[in-house]
Amino acid sequence: MQTIKWDPALISKYNINGPRYTSYPTALSLSTDFDHGLIQSAISKSPDELSLYLHIPFCHKLCYYCGCNKVITRHQHKADTYLDALAEEMALYAPLLDSRRINQLHLGGGTPTFLTEVQLSRLMALLHKYFTINSDAEISIEIDPRSCSDDKLHHLRSLGFNRVSFGVQDLDEKVQIAINRVQDTELIRHQVALSRELGFSSINLDLIYGLPFQQPASFTETVDEIIRLNPHRISLFSYAHLPDRFAAQHKIDNSSLPDAPLKLELMQLAINRFVAAGYQFIGMDHFARPDDTLAKAQLAGKLQRNFQGYTTAGQDALIGLGVSSISQVNGVLWQNSKDLPAYYAAINKTQRPTERGFSLNADDKLRAALISQLICHFTLDTETFSRQWHIQSFWLYFADALARLQPFMEDGLVEVYAGRIKVTDSGRLWVRSICACFDAYLAQGQQRYSKVV
Ligand SMILES: C[S@@+](CC[C@H](N)C(=O)[O-])C[C@H]1O[C@@H](n2cnc3c(N)ncnc32)[C@H](O)[C@@H]1O
Ligand code: SF4
Repeated sequence: MQTIKWDPALISKYNINGPRYTSYPTALSLSTDFDHGLIQSAISKSPDELSLYLHIPFCHKLCYYCGCNKVITRHQHKADTYLDALAEEMALYAPLLDSRRINQLHLGGGTPTFLTEVQLSRLMALLHKYFTINSDAEISIEIDPRSCSDDKLHHLRSLGFNRVSFGVQDLDEKVQIAINRVQDTELIRHQVALSRELGFSSINLDLIYGLPFQQPASFTETVDEIIRLNPHRISLFSYAHLPDRFAAQHKIDNSSLPDAPLKLELMQLAINRFVAAGYQFIGMDHFARPDDTLAKAQLAGKLQRNFQGYTTAGQDALIGLGVSSISQVNGVLWQNSKDLPAYYAAINKTQRPTERGFSLNADDKLRAALISQLICHFTLDTETFSRQWHIQSFWLYFADALARLQPFMEDGLVEVYAGRIKVTDSGRLWVRSICACFDAYLAQGQQRYSKVV
């Protein structure tokens, strides 16, 4: 794919509120009316290797745009209490995992580098106490450059972390002031260079388009600086502005936000520059250098998607620990309490802090496989799929979806021919909306999702 053709006229047609399909059904389908016994049986039937996600909710300072589950505090000791609870939760899961090994470990947040070096050491010691982590496991952490230091980076490497992801968002000062996240470009340059020197095998940088005051000229400068930093991966998120869900977003003046056509222009310029610089456009939000494992997995038809986005493993084999974390194992989804007091209350009663869950039925499973295939690989062989999932006639089964796909086909975004569905290069921008055609639950709670662009 060279550059992506785009048509602003399509915005009004396809820029719906839609899920990012990090799972199917999405987290909105999780219910408190859930048989918790299913967790144990799902894990007992899971593969030998699992991915582990740990949520560290704390941050020192509030970024106004933030849609993550976080707690803003200056009290470092709160993390000690949290680690006590995480230890209890690990102890509850360890017997269920039995001899299963961890092949991927990811610390997300919030800001995991909120933890001091001593707290990080304690956390890793706990993980090694309760779980068997493969010696070649991918061990990654999300870093806010402002809460990291040379010593902390050295320490992370010595603890076995081999992948880092830095939150950058935008390098323009006017944007940074409006989002209450002023950070020095020199600091980011330095930490990226040091990470490389220390031998982290993958460096990811997060950007957001659609933030207040972003303009093509200044965003081009941000994008070009990111290209100069030459990370292995880039995440380019669409700003999800949902002030009714994330109160701090009210601090962002609506009039300072780019409108949908400008937002699309910002996304396009970033995509085209990253692709021209040699990055593979993995799909929604993600870019990787061709020698990166994510790019290789996509070429090999083995890319997966889970709650962390695109991944090389861990689809339907992911355990999430900590407040708000979501797990998905063997067709069962479950989520921990989203607020700390409720999370602590469950742990204090020596109970798993699971609040809601969902067990996929046969129809859910086949739709999940279809959506995952389209969002990861943009093409699907309908005959092979029908055989695998025991469907007699693909388009008879998905007659509703075919009707919904019609306008996408007329606009050249999807092609349906000779036993194949293909999302075209221009259709890739709308892959969320295309997947939504196959979503049996979408009518429920659609307004709670962000816009596609
Ligand atoms: C948990 S944060 C990353 C680690 C660290 N807390 C930081 O901010 O550097 C995860 C990423 O989510 C993205 N993000 C947060 N809120 C968002 C929103 N409302 N819309 C789009 N992306 C968002 C940002 O790019 C951010 O880097
Ligand atoms: S973007 Fe990162 S640092 Fe900022 S509030 Fe959200 S989680 Fe915390």
